[in-house]
Amino acid sequence: MKKTNLTFIAAILLCGLSAQPVPSIVGPYKAVNPYKYSIVKNAVYSHGAVSSAHPLASQVGAAMLKRGGNAFDAAIATQLALAVVYPGAGNIGGGGFLLARRTNGELIGLDYREAAPSKASRDMYLDKNGNAQVSLSQNGHLASGIPGTIAGLFASLTYARLPFRQLIQPAIDLAEKGFVITEREANNLNNSRESFIKYNTKPTIFVKPVKWKAGDTLVQKELAATLRRIQKNGAKGFYEGETAQLIVEEMQRGNGIIQLEDLKNYTAKLREPLKFEYRGHHIISFAPPSSGGILLAQMLKMIEKYSVKNMGFQSAKSVQLMIEAERRAYADRAEHMGDPDFWKVPVSALTSDAYLTQRMADYQPEKAGQSVHVKPGIIKESEETTHLSVIDADGNLVSVTTTLNGGYGCKTVVGGAGFLLNNEMDDFSVKPGVPNMYGAVGGEANAIAPGKRMLSSMTPTLMMKDNKPYLTIGTPGGTTIPTSVYQALVNLVDFNMTLSDAINKPKFHHQWLPDEVYVEKEFIAATKQELEAMGYHIQERPSIGRTEAIRIMNGGKREAVADVRGDDSVAGY
Ligand code: GLY
Repeated sequence: MKKTNLTFIAAILLCGLSAQPVPSIVGPYKAVNPYKYSIVKNAVYSHGAVSSAHPLASQVGAAMLKRGGNAFDAAIATQLALAVVYPGAGNIGGGGFLLARRTNGELIGLDYREAAPSKASRDMYLDKNGNAQVSLSQNGHLASGIPGTIAGLFASLTYARLPFRQLIQPAIDLAEKGFVITEREANNLNNSRESFIKYNTKPTIFVKPVKWKAGDTLVQKELAATLRRIQKNGAKGFYEGETAQLIVEEMQRGNGIIQLEDLKNYTAKLREPLKFEYRGHHIISFAPPSSGGILLAQMLKMIEKYSVKNMGFQSAKSVQLMIEAERRAYADRAEHMGDPDFWKVPVSALTSDAYLTQRMADYQPEKAGQSVHVKPGIIKESEETTHLSVIDADGNLVSVTTTLNGGYGCKTVVGGAGFLLNNEMDDFSVKPGVPNMYGAVGGEANAIAPGKRMLSSMTPTLMMKDNKPYLTIGTPGGTTIPTSVYQALVNLVDFNMTLSDAINKPKFHHQWLPDEVYVEKEFIAATKQELEAMGYHIQERPSIGRTEAIRIMNGGKREAVADVRGDDSVAGY
């Protein structure tokens, strides 16, 4: 790992606690030691870089870059490694979005969001009295949508250089030989122990007789076998044959509804990326079925005519303005956004200058708005998602956000196949006005229908500066995703912060309903008091997002930054 011009490196020696024989390698590349690794928060590389939620996954991606792969190769290998080393959100049983800009200027938006099974129905989570049973949309077999990740990886292979068998080998080795877990992972597994027991029909590797602790080795033999079937048979190794059979048998044991045909018929889809300008910067983000790109465009454009810079970073004035933009954008999410194959999402209208100017017409500086008076505009959409960013030596930018929805998804592991299923069905509006696990409400646009993709907040984003590729960024965090990316971009563009500061400074979040402003613990106390005096309800909450970003510096080096809020780590060469 070449680290030059280090502005800040938090290199924490995590592991090496076990007396394992150290094969010192994952795959044939002699590059990754699963028993001893460090977290690197910020580094500058000459050629290519990866930033992801786990050091081993970033190292696997960087090894692919070094080996001659491009950003797509690295993104595929990193996602597969995350499915092993970051079981809370990395996945093959979930879905995601890949946004990319190739060096020839081509933009790619790949949607591999989960879809509702063919037996799903609009009222499937309502009891006989019409009450929503969100425990069913959030936990166990019925919560899972048809997984999209493997279809997405094979769709993105079109743009890659290396053979898939090489890209998946590190993940197979990590699952087969095991890796040592961090303290955070140990705590997360321990916290989910009861749920794993409750929502599984067979014993799972994630439950041990004793508690997990940092330095324990997690070996996942069944997952390794599943990954080998995918290595041998391609996407059919997941969507057909033994793996598909194991998924359907798991569904039958737990009253789930995914069938063989649902798996066989699943396809990834190309979506035209959303493009807009913000203070002279060209921004590219994801279109529906994510709400993320529209929300990001709306919020940035609503504040563009104000001098946020002069108001000052996280002054009560600038935060209030930004909150009011958040409130109005999220009101539109609830009413207008859903899967575009099922619902006409008025993307151009929602992001037009005229509409957004009118949307802010009732904004009053220094006075809290009230969501009860802010209706959706009239025009005739645990937070365990994960993001990874890659820039390669040629300048290809890749931004991938992928998810199981909640931490460890629906908590159900496919018996015999070793991977967790998502609980993405909860991202649909199970009943108009009933909040999902993120407190978000929705209506007809995001109602359940067979084959429909549930509305997402994932916001993989790219930015051009002076017409040149500049930044790849994104984060997990459920409905806080668009507001996190929004604040990171304002920090970069308006406040000219370093990339580290732009993603690590305390965040705040408002999503229309509930009418609350959520702030991280480190949020400036004086600003909080001023906002309360204006009439805002402020609530402190656990950390918001885990943003991963890479930028191309003047001179061409790549600065990679991983969020301080998790085990997130960068790698490159
Ligand atoms: N499951 C989180 C999202 O897609 O927004």
